[in-house]
Amino acid sequence: MSEHELRVSKIRNGTVIDHVPGGQALNVLAILGIDGSGGEEVSVGMNVPSDRLGRKDIVKVEGRELSQDEVDVLSLIAPDATINIVDEYEVVDKRRLDPPEFVEGILSCPNRNCITTDDEPVDSKFEVLDDEVRCVYCETIIREDLADHIDT
Ligand code: CTP
Ligand code: ZN
Repeated sequence: MSEHELRVSKIRNGTVIDHVPGGQALNVLAILGIDGSGGEEVSVGMNVPSDRLGRKDIVKVEGRELSQDEVDVLSLIAPDATINIVDEYEVVDKRRLDPPEFVEGILSCPNRNCITTDDEPVDSKFEVLDDEVRCVYCETIIREDLADHIDT
């Protein structure tokens, strides 16, 4: 895309999550725990044209890097995303995502009796399988609606 066509301004310092499947940007924000109330400076492009994906979403977060747990959960909803670290307007690091073996925190177990639910001191942990994730404590499986189980 030429400068002329750039839809979302460049950022100075922070993280650009690019090549997110069209329609997933709000789920990316949920994974990052961003709902606007924290005052974060965030730009979002939804369903913008992409050579590689046809349509893509893009999320730019000023002044923030991502934790490994956040990156792990992101890889489940946006396996082809690119994480760009921007420093003084330059992309200084570009990473693709690897599906992890386990994701910890961020997702919550749908089983109300699970030891990882809110009133227990144990953090959630899911094993990542081909098309689903499985709670390592109670074996409850989350399949299609992963984004509905993001702990916000
Ligand atoms: N970007 C940004 N602010 C900057 C630098 C880059 O928002 N200061 C964004 C670009 O708009 C782009 C992404 O970060 O969406 C990656 O930038 P760059 O590597 O320059 O673009 P491409 O080469 O097109 O990336 P790729 O090959 O990963 O598609
Ligand atoms: Zn569980």
